Amino acid sequence: MQQVKAVIARAEGAPVEIVTITVPDPGPGEAVVRVQACGVCHTDLHYREGGINDEFPFLLGHEASGIVEAVGPGVTEVEPGDFVVLNWRAVCGQCRACRRAEPWYCFNTHNAKQKMTLEDGTELTPALGIGAFAEKTLVAAGQCTKVDPSARPAAVGLLGCGVMAGIGAAVNTGGVTRGKSVAVIGCGGVGAAAIAGSALAGANPIIAVDIDAKKLATATRLGATHTVDSSATDPVAAIQELTGGFGADVVIEAVGRPETWKQAFYARDLAGTVVLVGVPTPQMRIPDLPLIDVFGRGGALKSSWYGDCLPSRDFPMLVDLYQRGKLDLDVFVSEEIALTDVEAAFNRMQRGEVLRSVVIL
Ligand SMILES: NC(=O)c1ccc[n+]([C@@H]2O[C@H](COP(=O)([O-])OP(=O)(O)OC[C@H]3O[C@@H](n4cnc5c(N)ncnc54)[C@H](O)[C@@H]3O)[C@@H](O)[C@H]2O)c1
Ligand SMILES: [Zn+2]
Ligand SMILES: [Zn+2]
Repeated sequence: MQQVKAVIARAEGAPVEIVTITVPDPGPGEAVVRVQACGVCHTDLHYREGGINDEFPFLLGHEASGIVEAVGPGVTEVEPGDFVVLNWRAVCGQCRACRRAEPWYCFNTHNAKQKMTLEDGTELTPALGIGAFAEKTLVAAGQCTKVDPSARPAAVGLLGCGVMAGIGAAVNTGGVTRGKSVAVIGCGGVGAAAIAGSALAGANPIIAVDIDAKKLATATRLGATHTVDSSATDPVAAIQELTGGFGADVVIEAVGRPETWKQAFYARDLAGTVVLVGVPTPQMRIPDLPLIDVFGRGGALKSSWYGDCLPSRDFPMLVDLYQRGKLDLDVFVSEEIALTDVEAAFNRMQRGEVLRSVVIL
């Protein structure tokens, strides 16, 4: 075992703390990874606010890349020295989803069996089974996806959560293809990635909706053909107007709130698809949605967990597209920060100042 510095959330709503944690040596099927970069995702803040579950203390951070330092017995997929992006979908190959050849829904994904702990032995709950606001972290070997080692760690680490979730919400869950009309409500890290994914797939038009002008500017850089400031304009009417009066074929909600989901619901064309990739809190309800509208508008109402991605298939491909200049991941890295800056980064995220702050170790 070894001791490293890490960022934890000890109690609901309390500021995060830098502490020393103990990382066990990797057991069977496990790997210890020396973290090089880890993005600050809104989901880390959800954990801190008690919005995911109450298994405090959390070891935060989950959008990371790094170098495999050591592997446990029986590990064949990676070896020490490999450059990897960490994922929270190490598929089991045996559950009912895996058996029906839909491993992106795997219901029994692998995490490390051993626990990382505080110095007093208190067990930590790693965010999304990763916990990478840490100099080193212990994961299941299947959570390590080998990618091109010449890629920039801060940029490709973001594929580990938000950017993959956004791209996948569009192309995997939403089925966005060439010529489909797409609207994305909420253009933070996840929504901006949904725009980039829609552009890669050849969608047209691609309508970005946000209440923040800076987010809309970045969305344009990533391929949005139109922008709607929904703090000033009714987004449903605007999306309909930009799509011949009909609504978009695919509308992606990347905020995680009932009112924006309802906007997505009504901004979609008949037989269109709504994709919810934003994460609501357990308290949220959709008020007054006539069931006849659900029936009468047809189509599909979907949720997207991690962009329905398969890390082993999607990460290396997206890193290659990045390396070839086809997918701009650098634009997502608003700033590089130290491990001590995570609390400040949460505040900047809440003020809407960044797409992603990325901790560099
Ligand atoms: N489903 C998944 O697998 C998955 C993965 C990662 C993150 N998420 C979730 O996706 C959501 C977005 O994450 P993020 O990291 O991009 O967060 P973020 O804070 O970077 O972005 C949120 C964006 O929504 C905008 N916004 C807020 N209220 C709005 C409104 N009323 N109308 C329009 N836009 C509004 C903000 O201006 C901001 O640009 C979060 O709920 C996060 O937990 C889901
Ligand atoms: Zn499975
Ligand atoms: Zn995340």
